[in-house]
Amino acid sequence: MIGIDVTSIDRIKRMFDKFGIKAYQRFLSEDEIKLVKRAETAAGFWAAKEAASKAIGTGIGKDCGFHDIKISKDELGAPKLKYKKHIRKKFNIKKSHLSITHDANLAIAVVKNSKKKK
Ligand SMILES: CC(C)(COP(=O)(O)OP(=O)(O)OC[C@H]1O[C@@H](n2cnc3c(N)ncnc32)[C@H](O)[C@@H]1OP(=O)(O)O)[C@@H](O)C(=O)NCCC(=O)NCCS
Repeated sequence: MIGIDVTSIDRIKRMFDKFGIKAYQRFLSEDEIKLVKRAETAAGFWAAKEAASKAIGTGIGKDCGFHDIKISKDELGAPKLKYKKHIRKKFNIKKSHLSITHDANLAIAVVKNSKKKK
């Protein structure tokens, strides 16, 4: 399954201006926040988590929250995504792939999941 999302960078900036670090804590872990040096990256991570929730068909909600999805980066800066174990199990996910881009005040993310063979 695949999922896609687009997020306004200004919206994330306004959230941060209003609520400070709590705005980021709402959808990012402490390790993820350490990777965020600018609003573009935070908006990309928001888009990535929304896209990941679409890729399992639920959207963000009771079945999959922002904190059920973990984003990291490899040594070249490429983003990686992993769902918490109970989600991987429930939706039979073997591996997830994530790509992020941002320009013109928008961040866009695409997530693709591969399934375990049964
Ligand atoms: C990595 C690269 C593809 C990003 O493309 P871009 O047009 O500059 O920027 P985009 O907005 O499309 O994408 C940025 C996002 O790409 C992702 N990204 C960064 N490095 C990546 C990589 N090696 N592979 C895949 N995705 C990568 C990140 O999520 C980044 O956003 P973030 O840093 O806010 O999380 C581009 O910079 C490139 O080809 N660089 C060549 C190598 C290079 O110059 N490296 C510089 C460090 S040595």
